[in-house]
Amino acid sequence: MQPALRALRPYPMAELERRKRELLARGQRLYDFGTGDPLEPTAPFIIEALRAAVPPVSQYPSVAGTPELRQAAAAYLERRFGVVLDPATEILPSAGSKEAIFHLALAFLDPTSGRDTLLYGTPGYPVYESSALFAGGQAQAIVLDPACGYRLDLTRLPPALLQRTAIAWLNYPHNPTGACVDLAYYREQAACAAAHGILLASDECYQDLWFDGADPPPSLLQAARAGVLAFHSCSKRSGLTGYRSGFIAGDARLIAEYRRWRAHFGVGSPAFIERAAAAAWADDAHVAERRAAFAAKRALLAEGLRARGIAVLPSAAGLYLWARVPGDGDAEAYAARCLERGIVISPGSFFGPGGAGWFRLALVPPLDDCRSALACWP
Ligand SMILES: Cc1ncc(COP(=O)(O)O)c(C=O)c1O
Repeated sequence: MQPALRALRPYPMAELERRKRELLARGQRLYDFGTGDPLEPTAPFIIEALRAAVPPVSQYPSVAGTPELRQAAAAYLERRFGVVLDPATEILPSAGSKEAIFHLALAFLDPTSGRDTLLYGTPGYPVYESSALFAGGQAQAIVLDPACGYRLDLTRLPPALLQRTAIAWLNYPHNPTGACVDLAYYREQAACAAAHGILLASDECYQDLWFDGADPPPSLLQAARAGVLAFHSCSKRSGLTGYRSGFIAGDARLIAEYRRWRAHFGVGSPAFIERAAAAAWADDAHVAERRAAFAAKRALLAEGLRARGIAVLPSAAGLYLWARVPGDGDAEAYAARCLERGIVISPGSFFGPGGAGWFRLALVPPLDDCRSALACWP
């Protein structure tokens, strides 16, 4: 067995699934705020695009993906962020962003060199850490401070650590807290990464889920192109978690190397999925509808929890609420108490040591279920 696999704890969301199945088997009604896997129906035009693209003959997809998808991704980036990328050399489709994030370290981290470290923030998405471990590198978690807006600030880290770092991950709007950053932040981080020869990777899968009245979050691609990669996904933007489609965009040299590496792994997506994804990237109206649905749930839950004396972190974007565990701050015990009432939450510890004392709610159950859950909230 791969030593990294032996060392890792079970993937947190897999553990949550196991506990949910136990409760369902007991006949318990569930309010599932666990995984960020929304229930809003897929926009009909996306389903139509998929159906129309299923071919009479099935053949292997290419790692480079269809030109149509790369062009749709480039058009989206230009429309949304005002950045112009070459779809042939600066964009590469992925089978959702998780696999692309995980594989990045396998392609770009050399554990035998003096640069064997991958940096990421905690609380955070667990895949950055596991990617470093499977690549044989050092996973270096940086505890993010709520008082500093959960910003991972490379400029404040010891130079010796930066010199050992191959890859640094940013993720704003941030999972799990919803924290956002501005363009000045990206400029600062990109300059620091460039000065230390670090590949700066930005996980931007929540970019289009901002709440009412907030400014649309910027992209790292607006601040830099050389030495950076941004990871985008149809999963949260268009509610296509089951389709598995995203793309990587940025430095043409890195994209070329990554394409070469990915050709060994069979990560090309089916062309009919890419056709549906291209349709999704070309449309913004369905995303606005999704934003409105999440904003309504967010407002209801934030107010309901605050009325119960639970402190909710103000946030401007994302798919989550990040709240302080009431009482003694023991998130695991609190999650167990919630579960007894059928309410599934993610204890902050799922997101690493920086999540201690907090819990996360994914804005997934329908509005009425959010109301019913609040009525029995512990
Ligand atoms: C921060 C972050 N990055 C990446 C992903 C992966 O998304 P997908 O693989 O569905 O594109 C998730 C999923 O929850 C996430 O929260």
